[in-house]
Amino acid sequence: MRSKKFYITTPLYYVNAKPHIGHAYTTLAADVLARHLRGKDIPVHFQTGTDEHGANIEKTAREKGVEPKAWCDLISAEFRALWKTLNISYDHFIRTTDAGHQAGVQAVFERLLRTGDIYKGAYEGLYCASCEAFYDEGELKAGRCPVHGTPAQRVSEETYFFRLSKYEKPLLEHFARHPDFLSPRYRAQELLNFVSAGLKDISVSRARVAWGVPVKSDPAHTVYVWFDALLNYATGPGYHPDQPSTDFQHVWPADVQLVGKEIFRFHGVVWPAMLLALGVELPRKVYAHGWWTINGEKMSKSRGNFIRAEDVVRDYGVDALRYFLLREVPFGQDGDFSLEALRRRYNADLANDLGNLFSRVMNMAAKYLEHRLPHKPESSEAFRELASRTPGIHRSIEALQFSEALEQIWQGVASLNRLIDEKKPWEMAKRDPAALRPFLNELVWCLRLVAGWLDPFMPDTASKMHLQLGVGMTSAGVEPQKLPPLFPRKHDDNPGAPGNN
Ligand code: ME8
Ligand code: MG
Repeated sequence: MRSKKFYITTPLYYVNAKPHIGHAYTTLAADVLARHLRGKDIPVHFQTGTDEHGANIEKTAREKGVEPKAWCDLISAEFRALWKTLNISYDHFIRTTDAGHQAGVQAVFERLLRTGDIYKGAYEGLYCASCEAFYDEGELKAGRCPVHGTPAQRVSEETYFFRLSKYEKPLLEHFARHPDFLSPRYRAQELLNFVSAGLKDISVSRARVAWGVPVKSDPAHTVYVWFDALLNYATGPGYHPDQPSTDFQHVWPADVQLVGKEIFRFHGVVWPAMLLALGVELPRKVYAHGWWTINGEKMSKSRGNFIRAEDVVRDYGVDALRYFLLREVPFGQDGDFSLEALRRRYNADLANDLGNLFSRVMNMAAKYLEHRLPHKPESSEAFRELASRTPGIHRSIEALQFSEALEQIWQGVASLNRLIDEKKPWEMAKRDPAALRPFLNELVWCLRLVAGWLDPFMPDTASKMHLQLGVGMTSAGVEPQKLPPLFPRKHDDNPGAPGNN
């Protein structure tokens, strides 16, 4: 029997606009976890994709003068292109317009109609068109949506309801029995309060929205975009309520579902209730991270205050963006994005701490080791001290504390820089040449370790390092040719200083 794959998901991003670094953030975090686990020979299934139905997307397409599907094709391709640029190692990219997904959604809807978990009624309520969600009076801020700040509209229509209220107790029981299901803990309380306050049934169809999955038994209605989109996590790997799927059995339940905090309620309450209604096991963990803000406001398409990943990549490279986003802010919390901070970290952590260490060692290794690597220095104290950091780094990644993992890696880098400053190998070359070779050998092996740690975070950098460090080379030698620096310095905080570009 094949072993169950570790299943990681990101939200399906709306195709109403091109991606920005907020979308890149979640996807990068998922990628680091996926790469880390694969590195430990754990089979992984990593799914991302695009959310393509609903009134917002229909409206955007109309404004652009194209058919909704053509618009979705265009923007969905932009997401895929960005993931390629950012070295995202997803296994499956799902679109909610995929035929298999739509068939799954329709079948789920019919199944829940039969079981009575979906029923027909009429709705009147306050609606935010950007969220495509109804709000209670009390949730609005002066009549405005708490997420978008736009006025909510009073709407009334015939609709199908999902019997969310029925799952209030089962959800609370599940939360109590699985304390890691809603993560991080400090965000769980809000959802516990919400459920404890009493759940109301939710509307899961739209009579006014044409661009959606039609309800099979009542095609005047389309399935509500959230009900449709949430099911992707199951339909992507092959779930269908009426047909068993071995692919689905090999990935389900999802192990880590990453989401931004604004959609935690959909993922921590509505989604598990849908699965309970279907009799499908619940995911092991839903993790809500914080927001990248700009001047304290959420970076978002609707506010128009976003930074594009492509622009950062053009100026700093892919790995600098990957590093910065996961290093700057503890995963879970909010953080203000600034290009200043990015440049500072680039110069200090990447160009200086890591880049200089690497080029110093590689230059000396080329000169004094003659590209030969005798043995792995198990007895070296420096190597053992460095290697003792590995379990902590792995634990941090597995706990999704990426900034902590990177901090530990950089502590290792700093310890190597200190060691070199103390031992002064350039003086050893004259004073004690016999001791120099083993020391350089030690350093090369230490850098192999560092490159291995960096691999999930900065795969391009790690492979450049591995190449020069001779990892995987049959002759066990150090790559002789001189390569450009890993991270060329960017114009400094002091633009007048000599030697800066
Ligand atoms: O909500 N900071 O799609 P969406 C951090 N289609 N993360 C951010 C961010 C920011 N400023 N902006 C976006 C949807 N994100 C639905 C999801 S899932 C079945 C359906 C990330 O395009 C974060 O992961 O609005 C957030 O939850 C997601 O993008 C929202 O993307
Ligand atoms: Mg959003």
